[in-house]
Amino acid sequence: MRGMSIRPILIHPDPRLKKVCEPVGDVNASIRKLADDMLETMYDAPGVGLAGPQVGVMKRIFVIDCADKESTPDPMVLINPEITWKSEDLHTYEEGCLSIPEVYAEVTRPEMVRMSYLDIDGKRHEDEFDALYATAAQHELDHLNGTLFIDYLSKIKRTMITNKMKKLKKERARG
Ligand code: NI
Repeated sequence: MRGMSIRPILIHPDPRLKKVCEPVGDVNASIRKLADDMLETMYDAPGVGLAGPQVGVMKRIFVIDCADKESTPDPMVLINPEITWKSEDLHTYEEGCLSIPEVYAEVTRPEMVRMSYLDIDGKRHEDEFDALYATAAQHELDHLNGTLFIDYLSKIKRTMITNKMKKLKKERARG
């Protein structure tokens, strides 16, 4: 294993979580190190997905692992991902986000998506995602466009959650 390190996760509200990220140019050693760190950070949290802007890196990269706790880990790194197809069938899933701790809400999204992306070796793939993978991949892709899952909720719910997070950040800052 290369040296991995856990990076701090930004908590909403933060302007960096609301920006559109830049495509990754070269899939080089620093991107591979970033991907390793993001996986380590995600597993430590623990979570099933983490996107670049959540660790303050404004690049189009995210990691996911939706394997059951009992099965072998299934880490995936998606660089410059794009949706190439989505199902008309929708699926509602209770989502959470490492940048909005301890908040869960139902979000409806296409049940299946196909995504084109580069892997950690810069190789292009096109994979179909379903079930939890489809939810996670779409949730993480949203992060690269400055969209959070709470943006799908009513304004009143979003405001309540945002106020709760502001309070949490204040408490954490006080220590
Ligand atoms: Ni998230």
